[in-house]
Amino acid sequence: MAGKVIIRKLSNPKEFEKLVEIQRVVWKHPDLDLTPVHQFCISSFMGGLVLGAFVDGELAGFVYSFPAIYNGKFCHHSHLLAVLPQFQGYGLGKRLKWAQRKEVLKMGLDLITWTYDPMQTRNANLNFHTLGVICRTYLPDFYGETPALRLGPGIPTDRLLVEWPIKSARVQKKAEAKKEETPDLSFLPKALEGQAAEDGTYRPGKPALRLEAPVFLVEIVRDVRSLQSSPELIAEWQSSLRQVLTHYFRRGYVIMDFLFGEKCYYLLKKLPETGSGKKK
Ligand SMILES: CC(C)(COP(=O)(O)OP(=O)(O)OC[C@H]1O[C@@H](n2cnc3c(N)ncnc32)[C@H](O)[C@@H]1OP(=O)(O)O)[C@@H](O)C(=O)NCCC(=O)NCCS
Repeated sequence: MAGKVIIRKLSNPKEFEKLVEIQRVVWKHPDLDLTPVHQFCISSFMGGLVLGAFVDGELAGFVYSFPAIYNGKFCHHSHLLAVLPQFQGYGLGKRLKWAQRKEVLKMGLDLITWTYDPMQTRNANLNFHTLGVICRTYLPDFYGETPALRLGPGIPTDRLLVEWPIKSARVQKKAEAKKEETPDLSFLPKALEGQAAEDGTYRPGKPALRLEAPVFLVEIVRDVRSLQSSPELIAEWQSSLRQVLTHYFRRGYVIMDFLFGEKCYYLLKKLPETGSGKKK
């Protein structure tokens, strides 16, 4: 993508109107499910942060977060990140998140949280592999019946709550790193693995819930959008993933990475009983 990119704070209602339009284009949600101008106005005035990415002066994407308290700790919660389709894949999403980190560090905070749908592999890759979030919290059907937020009819709106410890050495390293080569880890044990079924579909196998390994993988289907005509198959993958993640989160495992390839895997690690990874 040619063009000069500028990331800067947005703060007036005229600019916020454009964010409503970007949401409409990116998510195609009905108006009732869009974050409105007045929400951006008040929260940017009261400690929230709205950053826009401009390409040659045109607003191409934005990220929005607000002050929050999580587990008794002040943080920012990032609620929206969107880049217009014609600008996707050129690094704007990443730049918005790193700019958000910089601004939130300036506020004296060291944590940014957000939720996302764990079946979305592109977002998983961005969150874990590129930015360095961790996750130990599964939120079943978090947004309830909201149709716009479901993967298909009758499918619960499950989400992961991710934690981005923005001052940690790991995240600092990600911020500085050029592209990291991922070693081939597909030999690791798997708590969930897909299987080719006789009808030609790729379905989740039986979850392995007795793993004791310090590190293991959990497969998810690579492109959930391609299953849109089979909501029952999406539901099957989602419920297997829910079962495995809630089971191992309770046992002290944390998602530390995401391996994006022909097959896609969450990488789970057991954290030591004490230390910085422990919840308060
Ligand atoms: C998610 C979104 C904001 C990313 O913005 P973007 O400008 O397209 O993303 P970038 O080009 O900065 O890529 C950032 C990372 O996303 C992941 N990613 C992007 N495209 C990908 C693809 N085709 N396959 C796999 N991973 C991909 C990678 O981790 C990439 O980092 P890398 O380039 O170091 O590998 C954008 O795609 C979007 O608006 N999507 C729809 C709305 C949405 O899903 N919002 C986020 C909800 S959590």
